[in-house]
Amino acid sequence: MTRTIDPSDLQPNEFYRYVIGTVGPRPIAFASTVDSQGNVNLSPFSFFNVFGYNPHTLVFSPSLNRHGHKKHTLLNLEEVGEVVINIVNYAMVEQMSLTSAEFERGINEFEKSGFTPVPSQRIRPPRVAESPAAFECDVRQTITTGDKPGAGTLIICDVLLAHFHDSIFSTSGAIDPHQLDLIGRMGGDWYCRAHGDALFEVTRPKVGIGVDQLPKSIRNSAILSGNDLGKLASFAALPTVDEISAFRESGTLNALFDEARNGCQYLPDLLHMRAKQLLAENKVQEAWLTLLQTGSF
Ligand SMILES: Cc1cc2nc3c(=O)[nH]c(=O)nc-3n(C[C@H](O)[C@H](O)[C@H](O)COP(=O)(O)O)c2cc1C
Repeated sequence: MTRTIDPSDLQPNEFYRYVIGTVGPRPIAFASTVDSQGNVNLSPFSFFNVFGYNPHTLVFSPSLNRHGHKKHTLLNLEEVGEVVINIVNYAMVEQMSLTSAEFERGINEFEKSGFTPVPSQRIRPPRVAESPAAFECDVRQTITTGDKPGAGTLIICDVLLAHFHDSIFSTSGAIDPHQLDLIGRMGGDWYCRAHGDALFEVTRPKVGIGVDQLPKSIRNSAILSGNDLGKLASFAALPTVDEISAFRESGTLNALFDEARNGCQYLPDLLHMRAKQLLAENKVQEAWLTLLQTGSF
């Protein structure tokens, strides 16, 4: 069953709950801005992402508040088109949340939250020392989607300079997601944390044969899941007949064949179950070789 909803049948804030609850987890731009007097503001925005890398483009969006008024961040950006987009990790979540309270304009949320300001090198707003990554940005363009409560203003930013904590790098020099411990915003008051078992790798295929090319017995398997089929179909080419018979002769599957014979078990099911295990270990070639064993043993 599916619930199909036309946004125009609901109040904007009602439909918004469905959108915000399903479009996620969203990264958080912890935006530091200043007004023309130099008063500092710090607020979180999860309507945020990266949209290009030549030039390096970050976009976030402060919406008009429930009264249809501009948030302080947007007012500041209209006066000084510069922003530090600080990245938020798990260690920062409660203090970050505190800065989203509706403080009066001119109140410095660095002081309210206890975060440490560090002067920026290229722009006026300071960055957050505790953030594992911070991007000094210039505002390239703003795009407003309306003038009613909830309408967005896309702040399109060029990255001028970036700061990264040494601790988030692996020995190879790449960013290590395990060290970063990022958080994401979900619907309501829910967040998620990118660490431990929540992190996993998916190898991106250069070419793949596609699910449509999988043999029917595999595609319609009651044992293999959609993820299993996706892994199999991301393989560039099926193993050759020689590879399949060499694998058979290697004896790797002998115990399984015995089990089928002696236990009167259905061999294709046993092969699919073994392939499923192999796929979980990312042994895709071996999974293919297992699945393509046919005939009597
Ligand atoms: C994690 C988090 C994400 C948020 N994302 C947004 C957002 O994307 N857009 C928005 O308008 N408000 C967002 N808010 C609410 C603003 O942070 C809040 O309205 C804040 O008071 C705005 O501050 P300002 O008026 O000083 O700019 C978010 C709040 C939290 C806690």
